Amino acid sequence: MTASAGLPHPASDDEARQEFAADVRRGLLLRPRQLQARYFYDALGSQLFEAICRLPWYRIPRAERVLLAEHAAAIGVRLPELTTLVELGCGSGAKLALFVERLQRARPLRVRLVDISAAALELSARTLGRFSDVSVVGHRAPFVPGLRAAVARRPVQGSMLVLFLGSNLGNFHPPRAAAFLREVADCLRPGDGFLLGADLVKPEAELLLAYGDPIGVTAAFNKNLLARVNRELGGDFDLGAFDHVPRWNAAAARMESHLVSRTDQIVHVPAADLTVSLCSGESIWTESSYKYEPEGLAAMGADAGLVCRDQWIEPAARFALTLFTR
Ligand code: TRP
Repeated sequence: MTASAGLPHPASDDEARQEFAADVRRGLLLRPRQLQARYFYDALGSQLFEAICRLPWYRIPRAERVLLAEHAAAIGVRLPELTTLVELGCGSGAKLALFVERLQRARPLRVRLVDISAAALELSARTLGRFSDVSVVGHRAPFVPGLRAAVARRPVQGSMLVLFLGSNLGNFHPPRAAAFLREVADCLRPGDGFLLGADLVKPEAELLLAYGDPIGVTAAFNKNLLARVNRELGGDFDLGAFDHVPRWNAAAARMESHLVSRTDQIVHVPAADLTVSLCSGESIWTESSYKYEPEGLAAMGADAGLVCRDQWIEPAARFALTLFTR
């Protein structure tokens, strides 16, 4: 990777810890009580998520890999002037590498990686290092500021494809998802593309297994959030006094992940200056994963000023890749 461009976010570890403390305080004082999903991904949490991605019950990663491998060439044909790829939330870079490998291209590619995790940026840059005709720059930033930083440095010639893969969009509540799509659309020029991964509505039993696997990896992933509050903010959460509970909210078309208190208990988080009393059965809501209908995805894009050019669906797992252009 050439230099890491853009300001790191937040600027220092101390600032990051203060932001974490403020978010924990705000979330745990809300009703229902909440913790933000972005705090799942510390070093242990990221590895637990990688483990989730290998579980047979969590089918999103494999379905998406199949679609990327099958349709990369077609995407290249749709975007003949393509010179820049920007992936928002690159993780390990494995998906992007698969895509780059299958993409037919006439000219060298510039790859811009956006992630809040320095470890993810380093790993992805290494993964993409095997392509001699690809230059890689990482932007350690949230999605939209990172995208803006990448766009500010793009050449006048050639088109750009922004990739937002996995179930990332599903973690936004609908108004935030709509605003996000508009922000992405505003960064595109005519002829640019946006490739969106999204998980589709499917039978409840499959969703409950995907978000509550029988060997307990997902429970560990969810509880690591409390462990992280204990580690970093001096909290005294008793991890054994919570159950991981996935719920399908059909009316909102979303999976919810909860940590439900088994008893009446009092928890202290000194660095967040916080004491919370939880009742038996009370939940801390840690994540929503919205599930979509194929037409709904095209409509959300259209509302943001994007044109749906292609949509590919993996029928067994029910996962969609949608290609939009500006
Ligand atoms: N972004 C992933 C998703 O929504 C994260 C995830 C997978 C997750 N399994 C989970 C989050 C279980 C909380 C609990 O699919």
